[in-house]
Amino acid sequence: MSHPVTLTVNGKENEVSCGATTTLLTVLRDTLALTGSKRGCNQGVCGACTVLVDGTPVRACLTLAVNTEGQSITTIEGLPEGGELKPIQQAIIDSDAVQCGFCTSGMILTAHEFLQRNNNPSIDDIRTALSGNICRCSGYRKIVDAVALAASRGGA
Ligand code: FES
Ligand code: FES
Repeated sequence: MSHPVTLTVNGKENEVSCGATTTLLTVLRDTLALTGSKRGCNQGVCGACTVLVDGTPVRACLTLAVNTEGQSITTIEGLPEGGELKPIQQAIIDSDAVQCGFCTSGMILTAHEFLQRNNNPSIDDIRTALSGNICRCSGYRKIVDAVALAASRGGA
């Protein structure tokens, strides 16, 4: 049975119909066509589906859509402001830290939230912060470099 639910995604309210067990990832990708959030393992392991809910990184594949009503959801599509990339997005580009790109949105949202909490991280801090996000292309070094670059530029 489906219920109407109002989800605030990237600052916009969306009335959607979803069942009690419909995940946030399904609503984002299949209903709202926000496909930047990737369905990798669909089991909470890989981090490819990471989005921010009230500013906290969550696994959208493990999050029930109905439980996010009234909260603010940010996907990779909503991260830039006024057409400007966030520092971590620009640093990912400048560090050439993308291979297939499947992990990239989850990495960026995780790193963005991390840099807001720690703007002077060590390399080990960065590795720990990203440890829940898997890159199947194994391009970790450049991703870590990108987070360090964003930090050195003073932004998240
Ligand atoms: S798709 Fe959600 S953690 Fe892998
Ligand atoms: S760039 Fe391919 S999974 Fe990370």
